[in-house]
Amino acid sequence: MSDEKVAGPRHVAIIMDGNGRWAKARHRPRLFGHREGAESLRVILEACRKHGVEILTVYAFSTENWGRPKDEVDGLMRLLKEFLKKDEKELHKHETRLRVTGRLGDLPADVQAELRRVMAATEKYTKGQLVLALSYGGRAELADAARRIAEDVAAGRLAPEAVDEQAIAERLYLPDVPDPDLMIRTSGEVRLSNFLLWEVSYSEFIFTPVPWPEFREEAFVACLEEYSRRSRRYGGHE
Ligand code: FPP
Repeated sequence: MSDEKVAGPRHVAIIMDGNGRWAKARHRPRLFGHREGAESLRVILEACRKHGVEILTVYAFSTENWGRPKDEVDGLMRLLKEFLKKDEKELHKHETRLRVTGRLGDLPADVQAELRRVMAATEKYTKGQLVLALSYGGRAELADAARRIAEDVAAGRLAPEAVDEQAIAERLYLPDVPDPDLMIRTSGEVRLSNFLLWEVSYSEFIFTPVPWPEFREEAFVACLEEYSRRSRRYGGHE
């Protein structure tokens, strides 16, 4: 085994799970957990800048989450707006671009407007990216890509024989974002839950029991270390 320094992950994707259970264990409403979860997101974004992770993608709201009680959905949308307001300056400070993956048009108009404003204001930054998965589903993303392919074929812009992996990859929501190197899910569930189905084909997976509201820099660094142990063992041939 060589002593060569192993590069850390360039792109980390996180399923921020366990806010509800964490709050329930403290006899507090679920939104209390989501609020603390938003704080974890701040901390982890900062940790990404500190530890050289260029792209952070987080599962903030799934297509399935629309089925939660209205109070909770409204509360999450409010938290998202607060997050954008409070953290825009951090994005500027670290020259980090905000992006959204998912069906942005499903979100309430005021939330969409705020997202579009911050995305436009940070569009030119190239040091880092924060990708919020909002109204996101992996199957929905693939269905949307399939629809675009069908449209292109029907319009004569694409030959059926030319439909290959690249043709699909080019029609995903953010085709220029490289696939995640590392996917983390917090809070003990060992499932992908419709997150980035296509993009995590070759990612390393880490499932940690730590609930998202408690997932802070130390837990994140432990994941980065586990990732580098794995790439050292299997050596970057894939
Ligand atoms: C899963 O916890 C988490 C979510 C459905 C939403 C994630 C949202 C945040 C971290 C809030 C802040 C986000 C932004 C972008 C400001 P859960 O409720 O499914 O937890 P449970 O499995 O314990 O019930």
